Amino acid sequence: MTDEPPKRKAGRPKLPSGKKGNYNVSSIERKKREVRKRVKGAKQLERNAKKKLAQLNDKQANITHTRKLIDRGGLAVEENVKKLPKSVRAALHDNTQILFNPNAGPQTDFLAAPEKEVLYGGAAGGGKSFAMLMDLLRYAHNGNHRALLLRRTLAELTELVDQSRKIYPQAFPGAIFRESKNTWSFPSGATALFSYVDKDTDVTRYQGQAFTWIGIDELGHYPTPYVWNYLRSRLRTTDPTIETYMRASANPGGIGGWWIKRMFIDPTPPNDSFWATDTDTGKILLHSPAHPRKPGEPLFQRRFIPARLTDNPHLAESGEYEAMLLSLPEVERRRLLEGDWDVADGAAFSEFDRSIHVVAPFEIPYNWPRVRAADYGYSSPSCVLWGAVDWDNNFWIYRELYDKGYTGETLAQIITALEEDDPSMSISVLDGSCWSNHGTGPSIAETLTRNGVRFIPADKNRMSGKIELHRRLTLNDRTGEPRLRIVSTCTNLIRTLPTLPLSKTNSEDVDTKAEDHAYDALRYMCMTRQTGLPHAGMLNKVKEQTYEPINQIFGY
Ligand SMILES: Nc1ncnc2c1ncn2[C@@H]1O[C@H](COP(=O)(O)OP(=O)(O)OP(=O)(O)O)[C@@H](O)[C@H]1O
Ligand SMILES: [Mg+2]
Repeated sequence: MTDEPPKRKAGRPKLPSGKKGNYNVSSIERKKREVRKRVKGAKQLERNAKKKLAQLNDKQANITHTRKLIDRGGLAVEENVKKLPKSVRAALHDNTQILFNPNAGPQTDFLAAPEKEVLYGGAAGGGKSFAMLMDLLRYAHNGNHRALLLRRTLAELTELVDQSRKIYPQAFPGAIFRESKNTWSFPSGATALFSYVDKDTDVTRYQGQAFTWIGIDELGHYPTPYVWNYLRSRLRTTDPTIETYMRASANPGGIGGWWIKRMFIDPTPPNDSFWATDTDTGKILLHSPAHPRKPGEPLFQRRFIPARLTDNPHLAESGEYEAMLLSLPEVERRRLLEGDWDVADGAAFSEFDRSIHVVAPFEIPYNWPRVRAADYGYSSPSCVLWGAVDWDNNFWIYRELYDKGYTGETLAQIITALEEDDPSMSISVLDGSCWSNHGTGPSIAETLTRNGVRFIPADKNRMSGKIELHRRLTLNDRTGEPRLRIVSTCTNLIRTLPTLPLSKTNSEDVDTKAEDHAYDALRYMCMTRQTGLPHAGMLNKVKEQTYEPINQIFGY
């Protein structure tokens, strides 16, 4: 044994099988070849990397531009198309009728609206359904966006699906519609389910599901607010970058016209945001006082955006469709052409016109005589109206109280508080049944009087009262103005008067089963005798709250 390493065997070293040795070339040549090979490999790698980078840049640019367009409230708007990446522009180029340019006015407002619940309602052909389809895409660039678009029947839905097929793949290249599931899938991972809900019970189909955008096209086809209210419970997301929205479109009238009007149209003038109210009581919906972050604060905002045919040049310009709508009977014409929500089938006061009879609040001159008229109810609402009479004997209804559950005592307290700054009433009338007393206890009228609020029984002649109100609503030939106007804060009177139906059995009267409390109070007011000339004392005293008997019969 020796410690020296073993001697190398002579001959060629063994090579792995399949490899050739460079035994016939010089060592320099060998090195050159090796370097060339490496450079070639590196160049290939560089080419691959450049290609990948270009693809990524293209994708990124595509997304950024599309997102910018969406955020601005429009997709494929002409001026913006020029800024799109080549690939997107090419896709849009051949199909110009698909390019979407929101119509100026209501359609643009609808697409930019930040309120939680928005109704886009009014004239036929105003571009409502089209706008719904586009609004659904608000967050289609976000993988967490889940949209649900509903109509009442499957047949109605088909129309929307067809339209979406023309628009969506252009707006979001790569968007795919899966017919079996009636669902759009966008490249981001966002989805949009197109479905229908016919009966109220059908909504349970969505139990346990969550959506970030819910829209109903033609909300007026639903007879009650049940579906709309239920779906609100399906609106949620855990993604803080997404705002959740509910959107609806509707034509005036229809079986659901009454509740839509109450939910979206009556609370405020069109286009104004307002805090969501309870459709039964009209009160603002609030968080519970124990809410950890928003104790007692209003829940969310609603808005009504009125649609007009004239705002949709795509249909209005030729004038053909307008001519069709003009040929409809008056009620339908007012609804579908003028987008008028106030006309009801067989409305008793079809002459009522918001633009003429409703005025913004103003300071009532102190020396205009004041009139108070009331219709009392406990389980049904009590309505108290306050009117002022100008020098031309015109009525200006400036305040209303409308709620149920008042005892005579609480009603008196509220009236007293509301009248704190009013001059004393020139006359106060109340439903005569409040004096009827078949027992020994106090009547409502007596309780009111004992609590400092005095009334006299109203003239209850139904027919004369109705005719007198018609007279006051029609325009005065001399002045061109109506003899009765209502301040816009009297929301319940404005809500119920125009839709109050005629009685089916007596065309001289209204349907007493309808919500007629505000009408009754107004009728009582119209039946008070007004000379229009305040008594001499009133002209002199400006703000003097002295007691003097006004009614000669009752001595107070
Ligand atoms: N911004 C727009 N760009 C291109 N076309 C539009 C636009 N807005 C509306 N349109 C077209 O105008 C027509 C009427 O619009 P749409 O069907 O949305 O009206 P609508 O208000 O839903 O009518 P209806 O009350 O009868 O349901 C449609 O053919 C629609 O494609
Ligand atoms: Mg439509």
